[in-house]
Amino acid sequence: MKEIYQLIFSNSSQMSRIKTVIDEIAKTDITVLIKGETGTGKELLAQVIHSHSPRKDKPFVKVNCAAIPKGLLESELFGFEKGAFTGAYIKKPGKFELANHGTILLNDIGEIDISVQAKLLDILQDGVFSRLGGDGEVMVNTRVITTTKDHLEKSVMEGQFREDLFFRVNVMNITLPPLRERKDQILPLSQYYFDFYKEKFGKAIPPFSSKAIHTFQEYPWPGNIRELENMIKRIVLFGEEDLILEDLMSRSKDNGKSPEGLKNGSSNPMKGEEYFNLKDAGKRAAEEAEKEIILNILQETHWNRKKAAQLLHVSYKALLNKIQKYHLDGTKDDVEWKRN
Ligand SMILES: Nc1ncnc2c1ncn2[C@@H]1O[C@H](COP(=O)(O)OP(=O)(O)OP(=O)(O)O)[C@@H](O)[C@H]1O
Ligand SMILES: [Mg+2]
Repeated sequence: MKEIYQLIFSNSSQMSRIKTVIDEIAKTDITVLIKGETGTGKELLAQVIHSHSPRKDKPFVKVNCAAIPKGLLESELFGFEKGAFTGAYIKKPGKFELANHGTILLNDIGEIDISVQAKLLDILQDGVFSRLGGDGEVMVNTRVITTTKDHLEKSVMEGQFREDLFFRVNVMNITLPPLRERKDQILPLSQYYFDFYKEKFGKAIPPFSSKAIHTFQEYPWPGNIRELENMIKRIVLFGEEDLILEDLMSRSKDNGKSPEGLKNGSSNPMKGEEYFNLKDAGKRAAEEAEKEIILNILQETHWNRKKAAQLLHVSYKALLNKIQKYHLDGTKDDVEWKRN
């Protein structure tokens, strides 16, 4: 953690400014909203805040609001009394109680259903709530940190997120820049994960080639640090640097953000035909079509993922998986930029 802590804030002026803020707010109980694209390190930053706070020896409890079905989130957060509903054979404490005296991290706060938002507001205002099926009030002392990939202000305007709750969670906000805006961190991070996974998997593997380093620098990393970590893990595990670089290049072409050095083709190590066959062609065409449809619907719904999932007749989770698979989150900023 210590090494990562240094990595998070070094080699980037934006991140070192964030460190100054973190050092101050970690000492307090202030509610923090961490914003940023997928994989930019929002959860890691929340852990850093907790581990540098006076609450560091108390629990750090996280809840992924987007992953919990609508009907279950309330009982997950606030717990329930015995007999509260069919199947509630025992009393169960919620995450807020489990995080008492510590910190609760609510990931993807914008996905919390409006029906649960009032209860969340109560707890943020007074620290009290009642368990499902219970009359008595429960009091907790829990610091709240939330994260979002979206513009919560937009959800407020669309009536999907309570304005009063927005002000409560947005007391202090921090925006983590995407990796492509802190390029000087790419190499130290790559090296860190290279050494980490080399040791973890006990692999003897040569250092990165200069071509690899160049590609890492130029690739836009729509999946940010998570994508970088996964890619390095693959290189260490399978030792197929060339194949993995080829994959990165084709992904950046898909995103319409071809790395400068590769656009002119001079450093492309693979000739596409070598890896191309009919089956692949069919699969790629289908994927392209799917990606385009999803992107169109997302744009139409102004990135309201719930609405988009309904229109596409897929589950919310399936849509999130597709967004990640096609790195569509990275295109969102472009779209918004063009619209402005
Ligand atoms: N500065 C960093 N140094 C090293 N590793 C990092 C850094 N930032 C993030 N990571 C790693 O990248 C991965 C993704 O980070 P994290 O889960 O915090 O992102 P996130 O913003 O919460 O993503 P999502 O919005 O998709 O939940 C994790 O494995 C984390 O350890
Ligand atoms: Mg996260």
